[in-house]
Amino acid sequence: MSIAPESTGRSVTKAVIPAAGLGTRFLPATKAMPKEMLPIVDKPAIQYVVEEAANAGMRDVLIVTGRNKDNLSNHFDSVPELEATLQRKGDTDRLDRVHASSELAEVHFLRQGQPLGLGHAVGRARMHVGNESFAVLLGDDLIDERDPLLTRMIEVHDQREATVVALMEVPEELIHLYGCAAVNATADPDVVEVTALVEKPSPAEAPSNLAVIGRYVLRPEIFDVIDRLEPGRGGEYQLTDALNVLATGDGDRPVYGVVFRGRRYDTGDRASWIKANLLLGVDNEELGAELSDWVIELAEQLRARRSD
Ligand code: G1P
Repeated sequence: MSIAPESTGRSVTKAVIPAAGLGTRFLPATKAMPKEMLPIVDKPAIQYVVEEAANAGMRDVLIVTGRNKDNLSNHFDSVPELEATLQRKGDTDRLDRVHASSELAEVHFLRQGQPLGLGHAVGRARMHVGNESFAVLLGDDLIDERDPLLTRMIEVHDQREATVVALMEVPEELIHLYGCAAVNATADPDVVEVTALVEKPSPAEAPSNLAVIGRYVLRPEIFDVIDRLEPGRGGEYQLTDALNVLATGDGDRPVYGVVFRGRRYDTGDRASWIKANLLLGVDNEELGAELSDWVIELAEQLRARRSD
C-alpha cells in the first residue's frame, strides 16, 4: 500500500536527482564511471546528495541516469559478500558505513533516454512523481549538512504555495555559468520573489548577481510547462526556461527564491572538486588534524616558492 503524502504530514516526499551528464570535464576518470561516483573524501558525491534529501524528509529518491547506471544502482544496494567479510573480521565501523549507503532512502532509477537537457531529465520524472510537489537536487552542488537549505525551501513552498529555487550571490564574472534570477525583495530577508530567470547570461544581460544553485522545490505544474518548451541555450530543454514561464506569470502560482548564505561546494570541475575534497577533508573527524597540518605546510612551501 502506498502512503498518501498528506498522511505522512509532509508536503514534499519525493526527490529527483538528474545524473545523466557525461562528465567530460573529468575524463578519463569518467570514461567507465559516472561523475556522480567520484568520491569527496570517502563517499561518492551522489551519496551526499541522497543524504541531503533524506535529511530533509525525502525517503523516495529517483535518480535519472544516462549510461553507466550500474555503478550508481550498485552503490545504493547491499553487498552481501563484502558485508559478510567485514562481519567476520568484526569491523563494525566499516560495516556500518557500508550499510548506511543502502539504508538512506528508497532509491529508484530511470534512464533519461536521450541527453536533451536538464528540463527534459526532470520531465522524465513525471510518471514517478505524479501530481505532487517534489524536490530536484543537482549533484554538482554539495550543500554542507550543517547549513540546511532544502528544509527552508520546503517551508517557503508550503507557506507561499509557490515554486522555490535556491539562489546564491556570485561574483559578476561567474554569472554566465548559472541560471540567473531577476528578483524583488520580500519581508523575509532570505526570501525573494523571482520575476524572471535567464540561463547562463553574459554579464551584460544578467539581471542580478543571484545564481540558481542546484536545488529546486517544484510544483507538478512544471511538467506541462516542460512539455511545451522549445530548445533553449545549447539546443537543450532548459529547466531555467520552464521556471521563467512560471516566474513571468504564466503559471498558477509564483516563483520564490531562498537566498543561501551557507557553505556550498561546487564539484562540477576538477579544481572545484579538489577544493571540495580539501575543505571537507580538513573538517573530517578522522583526517582533519593531519590534513590541516599538511595544508599549512604546503601553503608555506608554495609561498616561499612564489617569492623565490
Ligand atoms: C545547471 C542549470 C543552471 C544552474 C546550475 C547550478 O547548469 O542549468 O541553471 O545554475 O546547474 O549548478 P549546469 O551546471 O548543469 O550547466
